[in-house]
Amino acid sequence: MKRIALFTSGGDAPGMNALIRAVTRIGLSNGLEVIGIYGGFSGMIDGNFVKLGRKETANIISLGGTILLTSRSKEFMHAGGRAAAAKNLKEWGIDGVVACGGDGTFHGSHALWLEHKIPIVGVPGTIDNDLYGTEYTIGFDTAINTAAEAIDKIRDTAYSHNRVFIIEVMGRDAGFIAMDVGIACGAEYIAVPETVTDIDQLYQRILQQQKRRTIIIVGEGDEYGGAVVFAQTLKDKFEIDAKVTILGHIQRGGSPTVRDRVLASHLGKAAVMALLEGKTDVMIGRVHHEITYVPFEETWSKKKYLQDWRLDLADSLA
Ligand code: F6P
Repeated sequence: MKRIALFTSGGDAPGMNALIRAVTRIGLSNGLEVIGIYGGFSGMIDGNFVKLGRKETANIISLGGTILLTSRSKEFMHAGGRAAAAKNLKEWGIDGVVACGGDGTFHGSHALWLEHKIPIVGVPGTIDNDLYGTEYTIGFDTAINTAAEAIDKIRDTAYSHNRVFIIEVMGRDAGFIAMDVGIACGAEYIAVPETVTDIDQLYQRILQQQKRRTIIIVGEGDEYGGAVVFAQTLKDKFEIDAKVTILGHIQRGGSPTVRDRVLASHLGKAAVMALLEGKTDVMIGRVHHEITYVPFEETWSKKKYLQDWRLDLADSLA
């Protein structure tokens, strides 16, 4: 193996730059050339490749976003798009690829391996933390800290006015962000896609609050479809006027936390070593600080559950 390529894909996540730095440095120190692909799968199809060195990856470890940019490519979902991408990889003499992203990225990477036999390993990069086979994904820790900081501020005004606040956090299909920030911010109720809300019981809980001061965290993937419908339901059924805040993309930006930088650096090193050892078609994860190699297919066919301790803790503290 002489030349590896690296790209970031799907929703950006804080810590992706730390990963780019780690892959480049570990690649170089093992005698490899490292090529960055701009704009995820779209850049792979367009041949938007650039050589990465120490200079290109200096001073990026603390930056949010991704210097390689990212995309959600529809073209790559088709065999024609993947064939065009494979042609570019072969023309550039790429012997192995590191893909950083979520399940969409891994679906595409798996298809590229099956159809074109270009060795490829994945690194979990998504704020949602919803990938099976790794305890945490790159970006999750920063996202929950960003959300917690905002919710702490909302709590100040909620308490000053005796109001009910409903705060929507990200998490397309999973409630990890909602659960962890809900517990960390002392929310009175946390609505997540993994559980069903008993709205009558919630109403009773609001009535029990001193002067009805209540913080409710709603994961965007919850069965109500987010905070707006949740608030409307409380209004229609119980005439409760709740203030709604949707935190949105603020959760995806900002300088990565130390935890995300260290996780990204660890996974980046392991990804390069995995390619050198001949591994392919796997995600590089980490469980209890040990590196794991999880077949791409398992990352989406197996479900990562919100552990019971989280649900119990949230419920018993509310
Ligand atoms: O997957 C990360 C994520 O931020 C989800 O939480 C959210 O549902 C989605 O991306 C939003 O994607 P986009 O920025 O493409 O609208």
